[in-house]
Amino acid sequence: MNSDTSETTSTGPVALAAPDPAIALWLCPLARSVAESHALARLLSPLEIERANRFGTPALRARWIVGRATLRVLLGAALGIDPAAVTLRRGKRGRPELAAGSALDFNVSHTDDVALIGIATGLPSAARIGVDIERDDRAVNADGLARKFMTERERAGMAPLDEAARRRRFLQLWTCKEAMSKATGDALSAPFRDIDVALDEGPHLLDGPPPYVADHWRLVSAEVPAGLIATVAIWRGA
Ligand SMILES: CC(C)(COP(=O)(O)OP(=O)(O)OC[C@H]1O[C@@H](n2cnc3c(N)ncnc32)[C@H](O)[C@@H]1OP(=O)(O)O)[C@@H](O)C(=O)NCCC(=O)NCCS
Repeated sequence: MNSDTSETTSTGPVALAAPDPAIALWLCPLARSVAESHALARLLSPLEIERANRFGTPALRARWIVGRATLRVLLGAALGIDPAAVTLRRGKRGRPELAAGSALDFNVSHTDDVALIGIATGLPSAARIGVDIERDDRAVNADGLARKFMTERERAGMAPLDEAARRRRFLQLWTCKEAMSKATGDALSAPFRDIDVALDEGPHLLDGPPPYVADHWRLVSAEVPAGLIATVAIWRGA
């Protein structure tokens, strides 16, 4: 993690290949100068400032401010309003969303110094998106976590691989499942171990308990820079 943001240069969000014509995807560097993070804090609501102030270090605080302000800038542009005027609220299990009735859905994921932001503007009104991004060298106990979060078929696919490939496959599957859990809002209470994902010919959901039924979902691997793994999940909705 970059613990000193004071020497970094200004870089705004970078548009990635759209996973769907209705979805814009942005990769957002979070390490910005302290001066920039102070300036961006002006876009945040009092509640967001309170939350930012609860982070334990200035670097973590600045990173969160930059991410939230960038989200506001992108949502403001999509809605045609001032970023500070965007009204965010918490939906199911804390899923951030816009006020009821908005045709726009979005989701955010962070890893170290980048955030991935997906904004859907043209999906049917019940549809939801989820995104997840991970560093591909993230130190995880892939075998232990696979026992907890992967189906038998997914674990069988991991078994013959060497350790590095197993970890990478785990993270690929994980980003699919986490992105789905973030589209529904279930987050960590999603039934990960029963959600069966295949990675051949692009990631896709094979089977799972409702609402994780295959024909209600599309999974897209995001075209992120080397060293990162990310998935966008598009859910038809309840
Ligand atoms: C909260 C959770 C949804 C995602 O957490 P995470 O992986 O730590 O973090 P991410 O950066 O991907 O996502 C966090 C963002 O998801 C959004 N989010 C929070 N709750 C959400 C929910 N219920 N549904 C959808 N999105 C949610 C928020 O925008 C949040 O960012 P913010 O707090 O800056 O607003 C939850 O699934 C979680 O805690 N996961 C833990 C991940 C883990 O343990 N992985 C180990 C295996 S690799």
